Amino acid sequence: MSGNTLKNDLKKVLEEATKSIKAVNNLDELESMRVKFLGKKSSLNSFMKSLSELNSEEKAIAGKSLNNVKNAINSILEERKALLSKVSINSKDEFDLTMPGRSSSVGSIHPITKIMGKSIEIFESLKFECVEGPEVEDEFHNFSALNIPESHPARAMHDTFYLDNNFLLRTHTSSVQVRTMDQQDPPIRIIAPGKVYRKDSDITHTPMFHQIEGLYIDKEVSFSNLKSIINIFLKSFFEQDDLKIRFRPSYFPFTEPSAEVDIEYVDSKGNKNWLEILGCGMVHPNVLDMAKIDSSIYSGYAFGLGVERLAMLKLGITDLRLFYENDLRFLKQFQRM
Ligand code: DAH
Repeated sequence: MSGNTLKNDLKKVLEEATKSIKAVNNLDELESMRVKFLGKKSSLNSFMKSLSELNSEEKAIAGKSLNNVKNAINSILEERKALLSKVSINSKDEFDLTMPGRSSSVGSIHPITKIMGKSIEIFESLKFECVEGPEVEDEFHNFSALNIPESHPARAMHDTFYLDNNFLLRTHTSSVQVRTMDQQDPPIRIIAPGKVYRKDSDITHTPMFHQIEGLYIDKEVSFSNLKSIINIFLKSFFEQDDLKIRFRPSYFPFTEPSAEVDIEYVDSKGNKNWLEILGCGMVHPNVLDMAKIDSSIYSGYAFGLGVERLAMLKLGITDLRLFYENDLRFLKQFQRM
C-alpha cells in the first residue's frame, strides 16, 4: 500500500460516506451507515489493519490520515443524528394520533332566548300575532297613554332609566299595547316579547330583563277569557296539567280589575312557595279611549309575563343574575334544552 493510493482511497471513502450519511432519513438507517463506514468490516478498518505492512514513518503519516477521516465521518454522523432527532420530535408533535384533540366549542342559544321562543310558539298556536316595539320609548307610550299621567304616583313604581328629551328605556312591554292600538283596529290579538329596563338588581331582579306582553281586544272579552288563556299557556309551558296557579287581586293603572298570577313551586328545602310571574287585567276604558277605541263597544284583556321568572321555575334557578354573567359552566347546562 503506497501513501498516494491510500490518500486516494481515503478520499473516496470520505466522499462516499458523506454522500450516504446525508441521504439517510432516520436514526436506524444512520446506525447502519455507522457500521458500514466505521465498523469491523469497513474499508477504514481494513486500512487500519494493513498499517502493519508500512514502515514506521509511513505508518505515522497514514495513521494520521486514517484518524482524520475517521473523525470526519464521526462528526458527519453526529451532525445528521442531531438533525434527525429534532425532526423526529417535531414530527411526533404533529402526527401523534394518540394526542387528545383540541376541540372547539360550539355556541348555543341563550336559555332565556329558548324560553322566549317556547312561549311565543305556544301563544302563536293560540292565534296571537307576535309584534315588536322600540326599547327606547317616549314617556307618552310608556306612561301617559297607559293611564299613568305625569306626577301620578304609579310612575314612581318604575325605577326608570331616563334619556334626554323625554325619552327613556322602556320599563315594560305594555308600551307596545299602545303602539299596536294606534296601528290596528279591533279585533286585536297580539303578543309583544322583548327587553325592558329598570334600575334594580338583586337575586330576583336584573336591570335588564324580558317580558312578553299580551293584548286581546274584541267585543265581549271577559275576565274568564283572560283566566282561561293564562291557564292554558302556563299548563302547556310547564307541561303540567295539575299546575297550581293563583290569581291575586292587584293594581295597575292600565287595567281594571287587575291581578297578579303566582305559581306554586317546591324550593330546594322541599317547602312549597308561590312565585309571581305575571301581571294582568281587563284593559282600562281610559286606555281604550285614549287609543280611540270605543270602550262602550270593545273590551279587552292584557297581561305582562316575566320571562326570567318563567325560566327560573322551569330550570330550577334561584339567582336570576346567573343568566347574565356569561359563565360558560352555567350556560352549557342548557345547551341541549
Ligand atoms: N306592565 C306591568 C309590569 O311591568 C305588567 C302588566 C300588568 C302588564 C298588567 C299588563 C297588565 O299588560 O295588564 O309590571
